[in-house]
Amino acid sequence: MEKSLSLVFAEIHNSYPELVSSAPGRINIIGEHTDYNQGYVLPAAINLKNYLLLSKRTDKSVCIWTENFKEREMFSLQKISFSEQNKWINYVKGIFWALQEEELNLRGINGLIWSDIPLEAGLSSSAALEVSIIQGLNSLFKLGLVPQRMAELARKAENDFVGVQCGIMDQFASFFGEKNKAVFLDCETLENELVPVNLEKEDLRILVFESGVSRELASSDYNKRRNESSQALEIFKKNGVKSYKQLTLSLLEEKEDEMDEALYKRARHVVSENGRVKKAVEALRKEDFRLLAELIFRSHESLRDDYEVSCPELDLFYESAREFPGCFGARLTGAGFGGAGIALVKQKGIAAFRKKLHEEARKRKFPSPEFYEVKIGEGARAYFLDKEGKG
Ligand code: GLA
Repeated sequence: MEKSLSLVFAEIHNSYPELVSSAPGRINIIGEHTDYNQGYVLPAAINLKNYLLLSKRTDKSVCIWTENFKEREMFSLQKISFSEQNKWINYVKGIFWALQEEELNLRGINGLIWSDIPLEAGLSSSAALEVSIIQGLNSLFKLGLVPQRMAELARKAENDFVGVQCGIMDQFASFFGEKNKAVFLDCETLENELVPVNLEKEDLRILVFESGVSRELASSDYNKRRNESSQALEIFKKNGVKSYKQLTLSLLEEKEDEMDEALYKRARHVVSENGRVKKAVEALRKEDFRLLAELIFRSHESLRDDYEVSCPELDLFYESAREFPGCFGARLTGAGFGGAGIALVKQKGIAAFRKKLHEEARKRKFPSPEFYEVKIGEGARAYFLDKEGKG
């Protein structure tokens, strides 16, 4: 595939690329809305990736072609400004901006982007784009940044340039994922551990459910939840609780009467979800997929009732999945408010599962859902090409 992309690159830029940088999207097994609350998450990189082919320029211009949208964008490193028209280029600009903030000396590049990650499907196509760019620039210009620092800078680009207040989960998973392993990450310390995911044992597949309800991550709802959960924690800081990881459900219950109901529920989600992530790690280690299923279903219930980020379409997905014998857990994933869900489903039951969900959606006059089957794949990689753009 790099070979044919190299040819497209050569047509667009009149020379062959020097380097390929690829970065995967991710699924999140469990641990939703816990990353920016300095809690635990359990994502995994997937086999769908964003590719960036690039070469150095002698000036300070960046010229990028997207093979998905068949569009070209150009900007100067001397003046990086937010684009109102073209959403995707802001992720590219944001990375250059973040690297320049670090006072790293960059030159311009010619680039080509291509991705097979479905957009707006809760698979973090934007983090994969950021990661492929920062990793590509790091290799091409020998910047000497380690993956953890690159993940932090990619997040900074998204927070402070693109304007989405996301946590570190997506960028981290894209860098640190490995085939058939999930990344158990403590978002406070960034300590992490790879946990084997042996889905073959139960012949399970990972199914992504796209509800068809569009969600705007940059919208105020996500940021509102961030504020609510940090406000709730403030109440406990007076009692010496420094982070959500130190807050227990019993401590929370003691304060219930003094707290605003919404803040109480937001905090309860974060505390209970942190607990579920730790239990899910144990369940995976013991290959106890029944327990894992229950934790995943409970995560949805908590996101629906306490964090209040679900919607009728995602609730219907969860309810239908709960009743389906071959389903080992289903829940909304990503920010919520529409968007996607994931389910672990027995291979033999997939066709029936999809049929059932289509029927239920039709009955309720909901948008017809789309499904993607994904596998747990390797993390980001970069390698140099020869003079003719071959790997
Ligand atoms: C989005 C963000 C992540 C995370 C999830 C919710 O996907 O990009 O950082 O906060 O929402 O878990």
